[in-house]
Amino acid sequence: MNLIAELRARLGEAAVLDGKDIGGRHVSDMSTTGTAPPLAVVRPRTIEEVSTILKLCHAAGTPVIAQGGMTGLAGGGNPSGNEIVISLELIRGIEEIDTASATMTVRAGTPLEECQTAADDAGLFLALDLGSRGSAQIGGNLSTNAGGIRVIRYGMAREQVLGLEAVLADGTIVSTMNKMLKNNAGYDLKHLFIGSEGTLGIITRAVLRLHPPTGEITTVLCAVSTYEDVVKLLRRAQGELGGVVAFEAMWREYFEFTASALKLSFFAEAHPFWVILESTAKGDAMESFLGECLEDGLLQDALIAQSHAQAREIWSVREGHPIETLPNLLNFDVSLPIARIGDYAVECSAALHARWSASHVSFYGHVGDSNVHICFSVEYGPGEDMHDVDDIVYGVLKDYGGSISAEHGVGTLKRPYLHLSRSPQELALMRCLKQALDPRGILNPGKVI
Ligand code: LAC
Ligand code: ZN
Repeated sequence: MNLIAELRARLGEAAVLDGKDIGGRHVSDMSTTGTAPPLAVVRPRTIEEVSTILKLCHAAGTPVIAQGGMTGLAGGGNPSGNEIVISLELIRGIEEIDTASATMTVRAGTPLEECQTAADDAGLFLALDLGSRGSAQIGGNLSTNAGGIRVIRYGMAREQVLGLEAVLADGTIVSTMNKMLKNNAGYDLKHLFIGSEGTLGIITRAVLRLHPPTGEITTVLCAVSTYEDVVKLLRRAQGELGGVVAFEAMWREYFEFTASALKLSFFAEAHPFWVILESTAKGDAMESFLGECLEDGLLQDALIAQSHAQAREIWSVREGHPIETLPNLLNFDVSLPIARIGDYAVECSAALHARWSASHVSFYGHVGDSNVHICFSVEYGPGEDMHDVDDIVYGVLKDYGGSISAEHGVGTLKRPYLHLSRSPQELALMRCLKQALDPRGILNPGKVI
């Protein structure tokens, strides 16, 4: 019996889609770089079924890709035509919220927003948050070690995980559903699977760490005149105001493009930098902090959101959906020492404009956690090689001691550049782990390393 027929026999007809039944969403993540449908998409309903699929694929030597909400931006979930996709969407739901341990036990296919809402309803707070919360699934968030907008205060996805369950290449289920904050009994195996983009195992369940609710958050849009002042504002807000839960910067080109496309105007004057500052500090404390910063000239202007609707408007400029309509858009997610981000942006922008004078180049991002995003768009003709863009962005980055991926991961798109951020010794150890956990090379081949 061939593999697809065997999968149908073991899991039922309805669990296996092939041919025209494979929808477009299984072909590419949000980087829109995937073009080839997989051999089949299998939708298991239980962890045991995930194990069965892997056992069969392992025996057949057929590659396997795990897919979640396909909101990634590095091509990590994209097939290349000869794989079995395991879509985790039916492995869904919250199994337990333990208020004494402040943990949530959740299945991999559960959308992030569903987890956030369940935590809120239980009087707790799940600190992972990103723009694609509605469709991103927790398994994908963990396998890519997602970042997002709360990292400055709570750390990345990795920091929200206490326990994890994963299925290995040969179908073995390794369950470490630990709820304890302290557990030093040997190697912390969950970190093999968090951030390895499905190349070492497939995450099926997790125990997430929850926090006390933040209370009311005040959102402020700040106008700042230099990058140095952006950094000074960050450190002063953390030191004097406290409770900083988001700090997102937008360079002028980014802010003006998206604000004008959304027909939003906050201030009469244009400014070189815009910052969204969010804090749990009380309204009075925020007002006096901003007043002092305005007096000192650190701030050029500031607007405290007066309603949730106005805070949403401010965030909509940051989320920047109008940028996505630009032709051939590339979105980079580099990180580098915070003090150097301003100079990097100047140098990178100059280098890109020197090569493509009519291009769109804009910078925005989390900054407070050392991560900046770069948007690049240009109309180009046949025969032009867009890899030059990567070469320029990463070439300049190398001199700044930065990383080619702060939060989106390596996938396929950054794989050729991994050596710029990792030493030969680090790469050798990664290959050694890959060989040990996946000797037949069936787990998401061609990704990461
Ligand atoms: C963001 C995504 C692109 O920060 O990482 O909006
Ligand atoms: Zn980001």
